[in-house]
Amino acid sequence: MISALIALRRVDEEGLVAQLTGQLRALIATGRLGKGLALPSSRRLASDLGVSRNTVTYAFEQLAAEGYLEASHGRRPVVTVDGGERGDGTGAVASSARSARPQLSPWASKLKQTDWPMSYQAPLKPLRPGHGDFREFPNEIWARCLRRSAMRAARRELGPVNRMRLREALAHYLATSRGVRATAEQILILPSAQAALTLIAAVLISPRDDVWVEDPGYPGAAAAFRASGARVTGMRLDEQGMQRTPGMAPPKLIFMTPSHQHPTGRLMSLARRTEFLRSSRPGKTWIVEDDYDGEFHYDSRPVPALQGVDAHGRVFYVGTFSKAMTSDIRLGYLVVPPALVGTLEIAQRHIGLIAASHVQEALAEFVADGHFLAHLRRMRRLYHARRDHLVEGLERHLGDVLSVEIPSGGIQLVARLKRGRADQAAVKRLVEAGVETRALSSLALGRPRDHGLLLGFAAWRENEISAALRTMASCF
Ligand SMILES: Cc1ncc(COP(=O)(O)O)c(C=O)c1O
Repeated sequence: MISALIALRRVDEEGLVAQLTGQLRALIATGRLGKGLALPSSRRLASDLGVSRNTVTYAFEQLAAEGYLEASHGRRPVVTVDGGERGDGTGAVASSARSARPQLSPWASKLKQTDWPMSYQAPLKPLRPGHGDFREFPNEIWARCLRRSAMRAARRELGPVNRMRLREALAHYLATSRGVRATAEQILILPSAQAALTLIAAVLISPRDDVWVEDPGYPGAAAAFRASGARVTGMRLDEQGMQRTPGMAPPKLIFMTPSHQHPTGRLMSLARRTEFLRSSRPGKTWIVEDDYDGEFHYDSRPVPALQGVDAHGRVFYVGTFSKAMTSDIRLGYLVVPPALVGTLEIAQRHIGLIAASHVQEALAEFVADGHFLAHLRRMRRLYHARRDHLVEGLERHLGDVLSVEIPSGGIQLVARLKRGRADQAAVKRLVEAGVETRALSSLALGRPRDHGLLLGFAAWRENEISAALRTMASCF
């Protein structure tokens, strides 16, 4: 009995027609009412369902118009399509389509193997690493910049994907604050630092090219290069940062975070920087310098970027506004070696990694009017105090279980387990108690050698850090 397959909610006539039409359409499209089947007459179905005859007649007329039924006066309507031809008509996907195995591209197939842990859940909990304090962001000023930029939109020249005002403001900021040597034309404005890595991988990496990354390191980088088919090798760290393994032939590309190694916060020594540059032959080995939180340094003057020391155009410099402003601003940038600017610009347009023009213009104003530097100065003082607060608390309350590696800058720090390797179990216990951290072993490329916790300090007020430390002390 067809009426047993239909369940109508009692609403007005129009609503009943829509429900009945939708449900009959779905039954036909999924094959439960097969081609050639004669449906009950409108009078009969109306009586079985307890609705007016008009309701059923309208539904039949609609389905006949859509080609699902053949209806002629005085005869029962007949189903005219094979199930499965048209989806279920409700916008839902038929179960056969859901279980079918799509043939993915090599790139998409590799995404599954990239092992990029994305386990964080909303809402943000102390001491989640990787964030600045968005509550301190000058939203009023930013909103004014956005508004002015939106109001100017009609008069704005159309076209440039990378807005020149922002490129110029960034070229000046990066030269004076980070020692980056670049013309405005070398700077691409992108939706994130991750977009920069994807773009570089798309342009430079062929399957089985060798890529070196830091181990432990930033998983998003290994993921981007692996997805392009690279053979990614994790290079161990010592006190001077990433190390070369003696005897290994130079790779196609080296990814590093020399200002504050992610996750340890270590600063790469000058000797190590020179060693990497010397062994990278121009045009053969490219270096990607990710300066994701280089704005924040506390103990001494920041060491200038590696990019500024390179005289042979081998270094890509990647930056993001996710840490310095807020992560939902979705803006990053890439300083491209001169020989590759044209190619990268074409690739940027092909992949569509283009940031909204009015947001780029707003940011140009925010930087040019000094708001960006003022915000950084204020956050540097705040984050410095928070780093010290967390370090002191860890040493005082958890000194027997954790040993802290004090970073000279950045927004997070590593505390190693003094005994055992159970960092993942500790993370699980802590999150249940309301403290969110990341296991150091989850940032290893191969077999984890380091066990500990990655703790964010920048995003959390001192009283929040103190409360989290009390929770941690009771958990350990
Ligand atoms: C080392 C490193 N690089 C890049 C990024 C990504 O920045 P974005 O949000 O701009 O993609 C992160 C984010 O956590 C990071 O830690």
